[in-house]
Amino acid sequence: MGNTFDAPQPTPLALLLLGHQSDAGSEKGVDCPGDLPAASDPSLVQRARVAKAALGDRVFVLGHHYQRDEVIAFADVTGDSFKLAQQAAAHPEAEFIVFAGVHFMAESADILTAASQQVILPDLAAGCSMADMAGIAQVEDCWAALEAAGVADITVPITYMNSTAAIKAFTGRHGGAVCTSSNAERSLAWAFEQGEKVLFLPDQHLGRNTAVRDLGLALDDCVVYNPNRPNGGLTPQQLQDARMILWKGHCSVHGRFTPDCVDEVRERVPGVNVIVHPECAYEVVEKADAVGSTERIIATVNAAAPGTAWAIGTELNLVKRLAIANPDKEIVYLDRTVCYCSTMNRIDLPHLVWVLESLVAGTVVNRIDVDPDTAHWARIALDRMLALPGVVATTD
Ligand code: 13P
Ligand code: SF4
Repeated sequence: MGNTFDAPQPTPLALLLLGHQSDAGSEKGVDCPGDLPAASDPSLVQRARVAKAALGDRVFVLGHHYQRDEVIAFADVTGDSFKLAQQAAAHPEAEFIVFAGVHFMAESADILTAASQQVILPDLAAGCSMADMAGIAQVEDCWAALEAAGVADITVPITYMNSTAAIKAFTGRHGGAVCTSSNAERSLAWAFEQGEKVLFLPDQHLGRNTAVRDLGLALDDCVVYNPNRPNGGLTPQQLQDARMILWKGHCSVHGRFTPDCVDEVRERVPGVNVIVHPECAYEVVEKADAVGSTERIIATVNAAAPGTAWAIGTELNLVKRLAIANPDKEIVYLDRTVCYCSTMNRIDLPHLVWVLESLVAGTVVNRIDVDPDTAHWARIALDRMLALPGVVATTD
């Protein structure tokens, strides 16, 4: 059964569109001027092994589930964004944390680790197009609109982990918290204990899915704030009536999954279970059988009975590994075409070898260093999330 997995074929168009919204003011660096080894060098695996062994316990490599196989092979731990944030904080012995993930994850790791530890992102251009959809100046403007409507003091900001450190700091300053896809329900419930409304940044889909499906709010309780329109495109009355103010942001990767994809796979694979990430649109999640963070998706499929069939709506690297790890199940991809996260995929073996060999030579490259004031307030927002009851990490 396991060999039925048919990886979708990449199209140049899909790769061009993903990661398109980068600019110098975004959450990520846009250039990575490293002196990289050639991607064709046949000794790359051996070079990475030798450099990592030479560094020993001085280095700890974190690998997000969306990373390439060639990178995951060198991860000391793999996980979703929540687990990796916890793991970064749990390894004070490591002088260097190499974060095989994207920029906002490395920033969070820097905020959660000791000042003596250095966090490294192997390719500075590995950002997140969703995080780029909320700039700090835009968020300040939004807050001013809430103040003008007289609702700022009863609104609690919650930001998804997929946001800049500056926005996490904004959230901390205004009494709010961070959430990830594995604890959004708990985080949102907490926010509604602190205030009457929530400003949810920057993923409208995670915010809507959690508010409506988990907390029982109505779709009409939610409004979408569009940062590209005056006053977010909302009247003061709409801001006053809403309980959830959703930032108009989304993930370009998960945006490829549509309700039609679900209908189509159910016809193609009778009895299939559909499981999707909560960054998918509400209409997609409503049609699915299960929803969860990357860690939850992996645990659910691994625990499923042999012979069952699963259509998975999240990034392709993860799905391909799940198919290999579960040869007794039929694993299919929810979209017919490719759905890699182009920025996650920027981290490859040449970048990993470059950062590890540089460390062996005594040079720290691509350090992610959040300024102390931003780090202080972002840490407050992150700690509020980590302190929520019932928010626990899952394990490999
Ligand atoms: P997880 O929190 O499930 O790891 O998701 C992070 C992410 O960027 C998904 O697109
Ligand atoms: Fe960002 Fe989407 Fe990539 Fe996750 S999958 S890092 S949300 S662009």
